[in-house]
Amino acid sequence: MTNVSPPADAADQGAGRYPFHITKEEERRLRLQGARAVPSPLIGQATSFDEYARQLMIPPAVMDLARKAADLRLSAWEVEAMRKQLAPAETEGSMGLLRRILLRKNEKDSTHPPYIRVACTGRGDFDHLATEHGHLDHLEDPEGDIGSPVVLEIWPAQHYSPIHSHGHTSGIVFCLAGQLDVMLYDRLDWNATKLGMLTLTPGQCAWLTKETYAVHRVSCPMDGGDGTTGPGFMNSTDEFGASFHVYLNEDETFLQIDDGESHNRNAFDYIREDNQHRDKFETHSDLSWSVLRRVLANTPLT
Ligand SMILES: [Fe+2]
Repeated sequence: MTNVSPPADAADQGAGRYPFHITKEEERRLRLQGARAVPSPLIGQATSFDEYARQLMIPPAVMDLARKAADLRLSAWEVEAMRKQLAPAETEGSMGLLRRILLRKNEKDSTHPPYIRVACTGRGDFDHLATEHGHLDHLEDPEGDIGSPVVLEIWPAQHYSPIHSHGHTSGIVFCLAGQLDVMLYDRLDWNATKLGMLTLTPGQCAWLTKETYAVHRVSCPMDGGDGTTGPGFMNSTDEFGASFHVYLNEDETFLQIDDGESHNRNAFDYIREDNQHRDKFETHSDLSWSVLRRVLANTPLT
């Protein structure tokens, strides 16, 4: 079953520990900071006056996105089918589509353990694997390319993203399955100050705008099996977290801020894990939701 706590012998190993490079004491402090941050990095139904006050200054555009996402859930069979498609396989032939994509991504870039980005509109770079490996008999070839405004992200246990910025977009990160740790940073820099840490569970929603909480790192703290996470790590369990992301460009938020720069969701900046320099990734997705949904529906659940 799910184990979100690191093993006792991993505690307090300090700054060398991936993904956040913090000690247990710093983690406690950063969780407290996250819980006290103003405006609240989490959107939810306040249960105290304090919580209400901390949510007061959350911008209306992201409140609206959160409200629209509030009832989204993955169904139990979808979660189970994702688990099957992510599970380590004994043979190449029996490998699930999601594990196959993870291995391909890890071969291409092993600076951090891979996660999967599923475009809810548009297509994905690995859609073709669904037909090549017998998960589907044909592709419908949906339209679109980079920059899907709505993305499902699948985070295998102990895998994580680099520190990255969502630039000038406004958006939400809505947890759908498992657990996700989010570390917030004050700027896009390897040595950025950590503002606070949150753990999202299903139904919880984090947010960002270009002024606030735009830079973060996401990690799935669940049980990844043998080994310690870090560059090149691939987990050996089928545990995962899943999150639903929405990114609105500046001209889509109905709040016009004209500072003469153009940053949109077609590319996000991040800090490379290997040389700690800034780089840019075009927001290609790995799969399209239309393909993944059909693969999940075809997954035998025994
Ligand atoms: Fe992100």
